[in-house]
Amino acid sequence: MSGINYSDKIPNNVNLVSDRTLQRALEHWQPHFLQWWHEMGPSDFEASDVYLRTAVSVDAQGWAQYGAVKMPDYRWGIFLADQVPDRKIGFGDQMGQPVWQQIPGEYRSTLRRLIVTQGDTEPASVEQQRLLGHTCPSLYDLRNLFQVNVEEGRHLWAMVYLLHAYFGRDGREEAEELLARHSGDADKPRILTTFNEPVTDWLSFFCFTYFTDRDGKYQLKSLAESAFDPLSRTCRFMLTEEAHHMFVGETGIGRVVKRTLEVMKELGTDDPAKIRAHGAVDLPLLQKYLNFWCSSSLDLFGSEISSNSAANFAHGLKGRPDESQYEDHVLREKSMKLRMPEGDQEVPMLNALNEIMRESYLKDCEIGLKRWNRAIERAGSSFRLTLPAMQFRRSIGAWAGQPVDPAGNRIGKEMFENQLPSWIPSEADRAFVRSLMHKVIEPGKMAGWIAPPERGINNLPVEYEYVKLH
Ligand SMILES: [Fe+2]
Ligand SMILES: [Fe+2]
Repeated sequence: MSGINYSDKIPNNVNLVSDRTLQRALEHWQPHFLQWWHEMGPSDFEASDVYLRTAVSVDAQGWAQYGAVKMPDYRWGIFLADQVPDRKIGFGDQMGQPVWQQIPGEYRSTLRRLIVTQGDTEPASVEQQRLLGHTCPSLYDLRNLFQVNVEEGRHLWAMVYLLHAYFGRDGREEAEELLARHSGDADKPRILTTFNEPVTDWLSFFCFTYFTDRDGKYQLKSLAESAFDPLSRTCRFMLTEEAHHMFVGETGIGRVVKRTLEVMKELGTDDPAKIRAHGAVDLPLLQKYLNFWCSSSLDLFGSEISSNSAANFAHGLKGRPDESQYEDHVLREKSMKLRMPEGDQEVPMLNALNEIMRESYLKDCEIGLKRWNRAIERAGSSFRLTLPAMQFRRSIGAWAGQPVDPAGNRIGKEMFENQLPSWIPSEADRAFVRSLMHKVIEPGKMAGWIAPPERGINNLPVEYEYVKLH
């Protein structure tokens, strides 16, 4: 007997009601997921009513239904974007052939690895953010945190669906492992380093959603190009949710900047010590947080030269984000100049795809910076926020461990070590930021280090009680 009411509890468009194999796999996994959520998800808010967006279908009406929900009752669903009729493979050596509805045997283990690596990041971020609710700067922000958390939970479901539906017993085992690894765990850490970094304050959370969720966007965009159609459709739908996560990051940092500018004006100074004494985040400190999270997220794209990425592209498994914007989709004849520690190097473009993705990612990161810098300029300050160079503080690829400053200049090792605490948050900086983190839960009130948002969620006022704490 099944304990799950499929159509009601698990909204889906994969015909779960009549798929016995999938039901059996989920019956086993779903209780483990709920247990994981209870133990590793947001701590202590299980009884709160949260104003959340739930996807109940993929059309315009159904993908964003709002209402008060207790998080453990959230309806984590399984959705694939609508099938594109006669979709053809859009890149690689099999370009122009029909996409695959089942996985060709020779690509099985590679696709499984790609899906597991993506899937691992989703619960990891929920774990990283587990304690943030206790120091929320407002109920509005608390709600946004929880929205991000339940959607990352749903993204885990999306990847687990693919593992259950297309990978048999191996897939079921991988799905269990996704709940067994934990962020920062000494014995069983998450697969990627950035997802083992603690996110213990809200400034880090906003940087994480700005930079690391944006890496997620780029990974999902490249998997959305895949010749394996169910993966493509799953990722296309996830992207609709991912946009909100980056919105949380961009507006979060924007509101920190706004508040800091107010304090600078009020005190008539840009002296960091005075701004800190007033309980706000000075701009140089914010810059350090940007340097840290941007450089950490740049590593997620992998090595500059990668034969794995070349093979994934040639085989049609993983394309470039927005593949159709490019002219050449096969890349057998093209090469590209890469900046390497030994000097510039001409590399076959197929092998440089990680770098191409990293470049377009950084361009996307610039958008928020322009907006924040405009606000800083309007306030009459000459300070400008910047992104660190791609070679700064890398731990993966050709630049791993190379002493490079945030502007991209190679410098001596000793100078690098000495300067590093002025480029990324020092222990004292982190302690100061932690000292600002106090829970503010009066509807409409904001912590002193962040300005209120311009508007509320789903046309509700900022003062709305987005989380009813019990
Ligand atoms: Fe996600
Ligand atoms: Fe996300």
